[in-house]
Order: sequence, then structure tokens, then C-alpha cells
Amino acid sequence: MVDIHTHIIPGVDDGSSDIGDSINILKNAEKAGYTAIVATPHYIEGSYIANNNDKKKLIDVIKKEAKIQNISIEIFCGNEVFITENIENLLSGGKISSINNSRYILVELPRTGGSYGLQSCIFKIFSLGYIPIIAHPERYSFVQKNKNKLIDYIEQGVLFQLNSGSILGCYGKTAKKTAKILLKYNMIHFIATDTHSGKSFSYDQTSEVYKVVLKLIGKENTDILMTHNPMSVINNEKIIITSPIEMKKGLFDFIK
Ligand SMILES: [Fe+2]
Repeated sequence: MVDIHTHIIPGVDDGSSDIGDSINILKNAEKAGYTAIVATPHYIEGSYIANNNDKKKLIDVIKKEAKIQNISIEIFCGNEVFITENIENLLSGGKISSINNSRYILVELPRTGGSYGLQSCIFKIFSLGYIPIIAHPERYSFVQKNKNKLIDYIEQGVLFQLNSGSILGCYGKTAKKTAKILLKYNMIHFIATDTHSGKSFSYDQTSEVYKVVLKLIGKENTDILMTHNPMSVINNEKIIITSPIEMKKGLFDFIK
């Protein structure tokens, strides 16, 4: 499996606390069956602002230590960028990076407050030649209220990444139910852990996640979301997209 959303760089956000912590996360990832992961520290203007040079130096330290400890996971660099109108300057100024310098960029939205500003930010990202991947849509209140809203964005070429922990209820019942519905209705393109040093979700829960997803969408689709598509992003290749299905009201009330 391949993980395109993790917080394993120490000292740059609310993820890993030190190099030892980062190494433990990597060991658990390897044990769970991951072969490649992308470090995607938060970039939030005025709050978490480590630039590409800072990140690169720390990733090199992690890679060196991982090699000493015989951990065979490939580590790539990216960011989880909090939605901003300033995205062009951040990219050109070396403040943020797309996933492994590909055309794909991971974007985070506010949990509440609707989709205000999203459309213009998406437009800007596309006009710069990038493709936005929106992190954990199942956790946003505007999506929980209206899942079909994602179809408008998917039709524009926007991609969506679901958090592994959401499937197990790590972020509450509503996010769990929303996660399952989004999966069922082909509105998700990647599943990633968003691991923060074991907070909310840890890699030893991976097999449980895999089982639930397998039951919901079958093996082929599960492998597309957890391995194939994430690897294609790292390699800057096209991903597999299945057309989303509009959800009819009340149909999935039984999903818990
Ligand atoms: Fe994250």
C-alpha cells in the first residue's frame, strides 16, 4: 500500500514529536504493509510555515535513520496546504510543494464554514497546472450535509482523499457514515492515513480498515484507492477514476 497523507516530520506541525517518533511511525507503516509514504506537513499561513528547504533537511535525516534501522519504505515530500488565495506565491516561492513535485497538490479545508472560497482556489490551482486533491471530505460539515456536492467538483477534475480512521469512527459517527457513503458512491479517489504519530489513527488499525473497505467496494476498487492511485500520484501519472453516482435522499440511512 501507499500512503499520500502523513505527518511524520518532527517539529513542523502537530504530527511526529521527534526523529524517534518518526522512525516508530515508519516501522508500524512497514509492518502494516506500506511500501511508500508521502510526508505532508500542514502549511497553514500564520501557523505552520516550514518551507521546502526545512522539510527536505528533516526528511533526509529521517531517511538516513530509516536506512540504519533497515526500514524499507520509500519516503516522498509534499504538503497539506490549508486553503488560501495565496497559493500561487507559496508554490513559486518554494514555501509549499505538491506531492513529490507532481501535478497533484493536497489541500485542506476548514471543518466548518461551508465551501466558501473553494471554487476560486480550485480555479487558481488548475490555472497553475496543478490538480487539487481535497483531504478528508467526510470530515467537513458541508459535505456531511450534502454528499452530492462533491459531484460538482469531481466533474471539474477535483480529486478526494478519505482518511482511514474515518471508516473506523475515529472522527465520530457522522464522519464514519459519510465516509462509507462517499466510498459507495464513487466519490473517493484515495484512502490515506493522515497519521499524526498515532493520534486519531495508527497503522496497526490498517487491516481493520482494509476489511471494511473491501466489504463496501470490493478488492479491485480497494486496491485502486489504497495502492494504485496513490502510487500514480507519486509518479505523476493519470489515476483511475470511476464516475460518481448521485445519492438519492434517505437511501443510506441504515449505514452506521
Ligand atoms: Fe493531515
